Amino acid sequence: MDEFEPKIVAFVCNWCTYAGADLTGTSRIKYAPNVRIIRFPCTGRIDFMFILKAFARGADGIIVSGCHPNDCHYTSGNFHARRRWIVFRSLLDFLGIDVRRITFSWVSAAEGAKWADLVNQTTAEIRKLGPYTSYHKISKPEEEVIYG
Ligand code: FES
Repeated sequence: MDEFEPKIVAFVCNWCTYAGADLTGTSRIKYAPNVRIIRFPCTGRIDFMFILKAFARGADGIIVSGCHPNDCHYTSGNFHARRRWIVFRSLLDFLGIDVRRITFSWVSAAEGAKWADLVNQTTAEIRKLGPYTSYHKISKPEEEVIYG
């Protein structure tokens, strides 16, 4: 039987984590190819509906990553993201989402190796948890209503 390959969606900020991921590539550091990156100007732009949508559309795991505290290019966007994450995290049980499927992290533009480690660890964790079919099935009727 083929090994399950998780689909991981990474919401990253342009200025730190995206540049860090780019550095990973230019440094020729190998990491799991399971991640699909969505670049935001800043993690302050994260809306947790994006996470629910990603799960509904087939993601098995999520990474949200941006600049370290006090390094945000928009001063406090990452603090807003962190506050939203604290609120959202408390709702995950109610929504039936396993908190282990979402990773919140800080990766700077100089941390290419950290990005590779983050992706590798997240991929290994999600591989252990298996496909997120329960959420995909639950959300399917809603998807059909919205998108016909
Ligand atoms: Fe990177 Fe705000 S610009 S988190």
